[in-house]
Amino acid sequence: MNNASLKFQRIIFENRGKLKPLIEIVSEEVHVWGFLLDVDVTELTHAAHYLSKDEQERANRLVSERHRQQFMAARAVLREVLSRYCAQRPQELAIQTTSDGKPFLTDSAAVRFNLTHSHGRTLIAIAKDREVGIDLEKLRPEVDVVGLAKRFLSRQDQAFIEAGDPERRHERFLRVWVAREAVFKAEGKGITFPLHHDHLALSRDEREGRLIRSEGESKGTNVPVRFLPLEPGWVGAVAAEGTNWAVIYLNGKRERG
Ligand SMILES: CC(C)(COP(=O)(O)OP(=O)(O)OC[C@H]1O[C@@H](n2cnc3c(N)ncnc32)[C@H](O)[C@@H]1OP(=O)(O)O)[C@@H](O)C(=O)NCCC(=O)NCCS
Repeated sequence: MNNASLKFQRIIFENRGKLKPLIEIVSEEVHVWGFLLDVDVTELTHAAHYLSKDEQERANRLVSERHRQQFMAARAVLREVLSRYCAQRPQELAIQTTSDGKPFLTDSAAVRFNLTHSHGRTLIAIAKDREVGIDLEKLRPEVDVVGLAKRFLSRQDQAFIEAGDPERRHERFLRVWVAREAVFKAEGKGITFPLHHDHLALSRDEREGRLIRSEGESKGTNVPVRFLPLEPGWVGAVAAEGTNWAVIYLNGKRERG
């Protein structure tokens, strides 16, 4: 049994915008990086140099200072990670978004990516020649997940959330949630309501799953989802097109998931 886990690393922009060694990725891999978004003033100053005019403007529109700083750190570290797959300096990368909001690289079509941020942490997923989506959520025990599931989710998802140890209901709810977000983000749509037309089917070892759609003809989807082993209190998942891919955690070194 593989016990590798994905760590949230501190952000240090040690190369100050210069090229770092390239990281190789093959199409059978999905690389996942995790970072803590609280950075000190020095790092923030360097982060600011990486951002495009649009990103700077987005940051400036955020009212909360902490959110502004975390947004800047998230964008800068995204650029630094992407630069290692594209052989371009972080500040030179051209990132655009689809009409549904999914970001993509205009000059390196083979490198696909997605990101998520939650409560001061971010996850970044990189894939080659296949669409990818990722989602991260923090466990919040105060939320009435059974009530939410009854209102919004399918009967199958409700049964999954309510079955077994009541202490783990929140985690099961978030598994259903992040799986759906990751798949929808891989497909580029974002969450699409209503949510009760599909349900999560888990593998026997519960490390991966699939959204089964009961709507119309589209039974099942070709976008499997893999759950990420994170520190306690966090639930995350990554989804990508096709079945022949493995998750690699970039924890300073590569670790196979
Ligand atoms: C967009 C959405 C997927 C974000 O989910 P979330 O849990 O709130 O936030 P996350 O941190 O997990 O993800 C945010 C990131 O997802 C990415 N993203 C946004 N829209 C996306 C889409 N349609 N597909 C894939 N990724 C998307 C962005 O990179 C965003 O980061 P950024 O704001 O720093 O650029 C979610 O709000 C949603 O599904 N909304 C419904 C669709 C919608 O309103 N789309 C926006 C139209 S412009």
